[in-house]
Amino acid sequence: MIFIVIFVGKTSAINVTNNRYRLNYHIMSPGGWINDPNGLSYFNGQYHVFFQYNPDSSSWGPMHWGHVVSTDLVHWKYLPIALYPDHSYDKDGCFSGSAIVNNGVLSLVYTGNVNNGSFDGGFYQIVNIATSTDGVNFQKFSGNPVIATWPVDGTNNFRDPKVWQNNGTFYVVLGNQSKDRHGRVVLYKSSDLKTWTYVGVLAEYNNDNTGTMWECPNFFSLGGKYALLFSPQGIERDGDRFGNLDVNGYFIGDYQYATNEFTHGPFYEIDLGHDFYAAQMFQAPDGRSILIGWMDMWGAQFPEQPDGWAGALTIPRELTLSADGTRINMSPIAELLTLRGNQYINSNIEVDGVYNTNIPLGSTEILLQIALVNVQARKVGLKFPLNNGELRVYYDKQTQKLVVSRKKVVRQVAINNISVLNLRIFVDRSSIEVFANNGSAVFTSRFYVDYIPNLSLFAEYGVANLSLQAFSLNK
Ligand code: FRU
Repeated sequence: MIFIVIFVGKTSAINVTNNRYRLNYHIMSPGGWINDPNGLSYFNGQYHVFFQYNPDSSSWGPMHWGHVVSTDLVHWKYLPIALYPDHSYDKDGCFSGSAIVNNGVLSLVYTGNVNNGSFDGGFYQIVNIATSTDGVNFQKFSGNPVIATWPVDGTNNFRDPKVWQNNGTFYVVLGNQSKDRHGRVVLYKSSDLKTWTYVGVLAEYNNDNTGTMWECPNFFSLGGKYALLFSPQGIERDGDRFGNLDVNGYFIGDYQYATNEFTHGPFYEIDLGHDFYAAQMFQAPDGRSILIGWMDMWGAQFPEQPDGWAGALTIPRELTLSADGTRINMSPIAELLTLRGNQYINSNIEVDGVYNTNIPLGSTEILLQIALVNVQARKVGLKFPLNNGELRVYYDKQTQKLVVSRKKVVRQVAINNISVLNLRIFVDRSSIEVFANNGSAVFTSRFYVDYIPNLSLFAEYGVANLSLQAFSLNK
């Protein structure tokens, strides 16, 4: 009897007790806690997204893999939990990993977290696989772990395998740490996903501010270059850069498989908002590189926790290489246009002071164009109230920066030499994703307000001309 109770407790999520912050069109926790997106893939006619999941509490805890599927990357269906931390090789968490389709089988390549002591010294992290032929039920491989230990010159921080195939060979990159506690990414290869050979370090700390541990690496070709996207911990704030506890960013460069040589440029953040981390990308069948991030941040407050849930994932974004080949641009995938319902407004507006609209910011897409040539106003943009504060998205003419300010906590980036600022903004009940100038700057933040606020525009110290369109987004 006692065993049955424990079993039932493990499979059922805790209940959501209040819907005030529940999102409409985002993947979010169905009850319990979620963090990183995992296993992004396309299998048997469906897109699959898994996520780090604790079904039993709205706080981080024993990690399972939650699972959703979709035929259009927009409407998601929740499936049963795909992985439980129930074997000796993953007993303290099925940590992050990825997926690959091979001969009609969906294979998950994931981190087994095993904690035999204090979190700092007594744990180890290894790589396991699990497979499915129906895309719902997963069998763990009897030969797990498939990578049983980390490179000798690294520490036991060894996690988040991201798998891909090139010329018939499988590769994984893993986040790791050198013995002197600097972040790095290591590479393995395999012919069958079961036996892996260590290739070497793909990229590492180079006397720069790139942190102490690199989590959640992704390595992929983009527009003729290679990108290494990862989530470093322990980066120090540097002016407007690296404002969050941990950050998510990338190197762009050139890569030789034959020699495992990756020569790359500087580290750039991929998303500048308050809440974005641990993003994973995958290649859709039509060749697009699509990315989804965790729409929260370690160390953040989670005001939805008392409501029985915590955590959400971003909208899917298409990645492209910038025209000069040095940056990643990120735009909402085209499929999101299908969410557009009624159009609230399509007007040119001269704003002097505050301009209140009656456009509700429940689930809303906003297209805002701000003419910057001869703009008089010093600050121009949009704002809406929060519980105890305000969220503002605006251009600051004096500093020439695009600013997202949440309760006066500012994230900003310089925007130079443009005549029109184009903002495409996705608001859901407790999230905002701002895409500026075709995705060359992106800000993702959560926000909390107990009623659905209306949108206001503002122009301070002078007038500004704006063109505003807004649509309701309906699932
Ligand atoms: C990133 C991360 C991963 C780890 C997972 C555990 O947010 O710390 O490195 O696998 O979360 O939930």
